[in-house]
Amino acid sequence: MAQAKVKADVPIEALLKEKRKFPPSKAFVKSAVMNRKTIYAEAQRNYVKFWEQRARELHWFKPWKKALEWRPPYAKWFVGGKLNVSYNCLDRHVEGPRKTRAALIWEGEPGDSRVLTYWDLYREVNRFAAALKRHGVRKGDRVTIYMPMVPELPIAMLACTRIGAAHSVIFGGFSPEAVRERIHDAESTLVITADGGYRRGGTVPLKKNTDEALRGAPGVKTVIVLKRTGEPVEMQSGRDIWWDDFVKDAGARCPAEPMDSEDLLYLLYTSGSTGKPKGIIHTTGGYLTGVTATHKWIFDLHDDDVYWCTADIGWVTGHSYIVYGPLANGATTVMYEGTPDYPDKDRFWRIVEKYGVTICYTAPTAIRTFMKWGEEYPKRCDLSSLRLLGSVGEPINPEAWVWYWKVIGGGRCPVVDTWWQTETGHILITPLPGLTTLKPGSATLPFPGVDAEVLDEKGNPAKSGYLVLRKPWPGMLRGIWGDPDRFVKQYWSKYDNIYFTGDGAKRDEDGYFWLLGRVDDVMNVSGHRVSTMEVESALVDHKSVAEAAVIGKMHDIKGQAIAAFVTVKSGVDGSPQLMDELKGHVAKKIGALARPDDIIFSAELPKTRSGKIMRRLLRDIAEGRALGDTTTLADPAVVASLKSKYEEQEA
Ligand code: PRX
Repeated sequence: MAQAKVKADVPIEALLKEKRKFPPSKAFVKSAVMNRKTIYAEAQRNYVKFWEQRARELHWFKPWKKALEWRPPYAKWFVGGKLNVSYNCLDRHVEGPRKTRAALIWEGEPGDSRVLTYWDLYREVNRFAAALKRHGVRKGDRVTIYMPMVPELPIAMLACTRIGAAHSVIFGGFSPEAVRERIHDAESTLVITADGGYRRGGTVPLKKNTDEALRGAPGVKTVIVLKRTGEPVEMQSGRDIWWDDFVKDAGARCPAEPMDSEDLLYLLYTSGSTGKPKGIIHTTGGYLTGVTATHKWIFDLHDDDVYWCTADIGWVTGHSYIVYGPLANGATTVMYEGTPDYPDKDRFWRIVEKYGVTICYTAPTAIRTFMKWGEEYPKRCDLSSLRLLGSVGEPINPEAWVWYWKVIGGGRCPVVDTWWQTETGHILITPLPGLTTLKPGSATLPFPGVDAEVLDEKGNPAKSGYLVLRKPWPGMLRGIWGDPDRFVKQYWSKYDNIYFTGDGAKRDEDGYFWLLGRVDDVMNVSGHRVSTMEVESALVDHKSVAEAAVIGKMHDIKGQAIAAFVTVKSGVDGSPQLMDELKGHVAKKIGALARPDDIIFSAELPKTRSGKIMRRLLRDIAEGRALGDTTTLADPAVVASLKSKYEEQEA
């Protein structure tokens, strides 16, 4: 057992120098959910059959006729099959011994907490689904959900799936304008929100934001408002209704609608390389198969586990690995409303101790923040219940990996670094903890049945290049809502019939994948996708701005931070006040997650002869490689000289 030989008091620097590999311990292998070495070869022989076997673990009202219909770039999985997601997440558990098991353990930021058993959740979802149905919500309608991290959020999602409506969940940190844009695009007529939510000791005014968003969205006829903070809000008569009133006289049972495997399950908006967010389309049978199987095997889910994914349900990680994967597997899933530093920087570890969390899934940016805060915070708590750790959202640097393994995991918990995207629906590159020898910083190998490869520009397999997926997988996106051309252009045009991820990657001598980050104009800020063009459009929307170019620059904690090069209109002074105003303007247009760290006023932006902004050059400047002083670039000569140097370099 190689891990056991590493004592927990060995300094981290020494571990890093050793370039160690971490094979699973014998004890872990013995009881692992998936410990069959042949599984990769089995899946490779017939990946469709492999996924069919996984799909059979779900409850189907009607079996499928054909497992896969692949007409690139469109895949249909489990064609002709009928199932319901909420039935799989609830009904089949309440019919058995899991009925009184905790489904959801919820902790509010102020310290309040609720535990909902499968039976509790089943009742709540039935009632809310019945109320939606009575209100006229129909199969195929799109319901927008803009809520804090409270149990009613998954309740609303599951209720939608129960009646066959699709949800579009919008992260609570998005601005009213961003909410409006997404409501418009999805053509939602019903919005579910709350008066507010708690965050870092304060509140987020979700209802107020919704009101502002709806000023430009007359198509929305109903707003359901959950009371969470109790702050006064305006209720528009005829449109707004409190959650409690909405469900008051609704029936206790609402039958789960048999859905076609390929029926729309949800839309989730994410940033791409243009200014407009894309509504990623996920459907029912394939998605649920993918999230359920990956959740069980990768997190080595056992009946006595208490599983906690720290993401927000507003992102795909929360959809797949707080709600659907865990509940379909009948697991106990923990959900926390607030930030990790409230009331103190030990909050996460208090939660682990309080609920005896055994599996914890978080993001590298959080791990790096915990490293910066210091070991004293986790050391205050008993973390001995933990047995498996996970990471997602961005490349994890080996130092953070080893810190996580040693300080949080006490040197005994495997760390699974899981690569995937909103578009992929579920994890695709990952260790299986009972089989895979871990290497800090590598997401290791494709999940069985997944065909990932690294290709060069010409499409030949390479040691370093672009990450692609060569075969369809069940949870893959089925398109971009209302924009089929963009779907083809974005993902299927670089190589014939091969999915292009937008990520760069390397492979080592063992075939392991090492993710290198995005190769397109998408930034990854604290694990969140933000498009450079979205921020640029927000900036040029300001009256003082003539032109803007945005890049992601390296950042110790966030992975990338946003730097914006701005050319102001003539007669405008690039003052520190304007800098602050522009940062605030971007936050107002998109949300605080897109607020630039740096605004650099520049009299000219370096462009190629064809007018393309030289982002690599700007990155050099922002990261301090080309210029000492990065606060202002007023002298066009500086840009010009950098530009010619750059062009020479490129030639
Ligand atoms: O660049 C990759 C990075 O996050 C992108 C997907 O972002 P999003 O759709 O918001 O989904 C995030 C959660 C699944 C990817 O294109 N990414 C995600 N996980 C990893 C990662 N990069 C490296 N290693 C990972 N484990």
